[in-house]
Amino acid sequence: MMRRKLVAGNWKMHGSRHFVEETLRAIVAETEMLESVDLAVCPTLVHLPLAESLLKGTRISLGAQNVHDQAEGAYTGEVSAPMLAEYAVTFVIVGHSERRQLFSESDKTVADKFMAVQAAGMKPVLCLGESLQQREQGVTSEVVLAQLDAVIDQVGASAFDHAVVAYEPIWAIGTGRTATPEQAQEVHAAIRQHLAGRDREVAERCRILYGGSVNPANADELFAQPDIDGGLVGGASLKAADFASISQSAS
Ligand code: 13P
Repeated sequence: MMRRKLVAGNWKMHGSRHFVEETLRAIVAETEMLESVDLAVCPTLVHLPLAESLLKGTRISLGAQNVHDQAEGAYTGEVSAPMLAEYAVTFVIVGHSERRQLFSESDKTVADKFMAVQAAGMKPVLCLGESLQQREQGVTSEVVLAQLDAVIDQVGASAFDHAVVAYEPIWAIGTGRTATPEQAQEVHAAIRQHLAGRDREVAERCRILYGGSVNPANADELFAQPDIDGGLVGGASLKAADFASISQSAS
């Protein structure tokens, strides 16, 4: 089956109003002709309203980087899924390794957030990935599939018809040390096979993105792998020309 590829930029805690305006205008202009790939940009929460207005009527979807699992309440500093949904947000990243590591998010929290995003009508982008130590110990697939199971056990496999998975090896994030296409493909295939064990059709349809030092020079090879359905791009997505070039590789 041909899965339509998706390239999503995760801007993390970068940008300013000026940057958002300039960069989104450039991205829109430089990706206009790429009709066979889905595109998304995930700016910071405060930049969502501005990004929403700049992306209105374009082919680029809006994404958020985080969300709280409750719809409302006394959770100072947090933002809920229904609030994001009011800003034309299509995708919400959940379980990014930076949230798991720096903000102590558990598998249970990640599963709760996944559910909250879907309940508000948006698509979670569920991030999975092993540390360098875990890779060296040879437990990569155990770790990644356990992270996946934590969500499947709570929401069921059919929920992945309205979700995206992103494999992001922690050692490849922001390091310039990309997983080789073979290393990435091996894990992507394991994720799809595991999902297929629960629901074969959903597994065939579900997009699995690769993330971790994707750049214009390595995107072609990564996206040529049979189970890599696009990318979740950090650093390179902050440069319009690089993001457009990576998107071109997926089209
Ligand atoms: P880099 O592309 O900067 O390595 O970041 C990847 C990432 O964490 C995307 O979510």
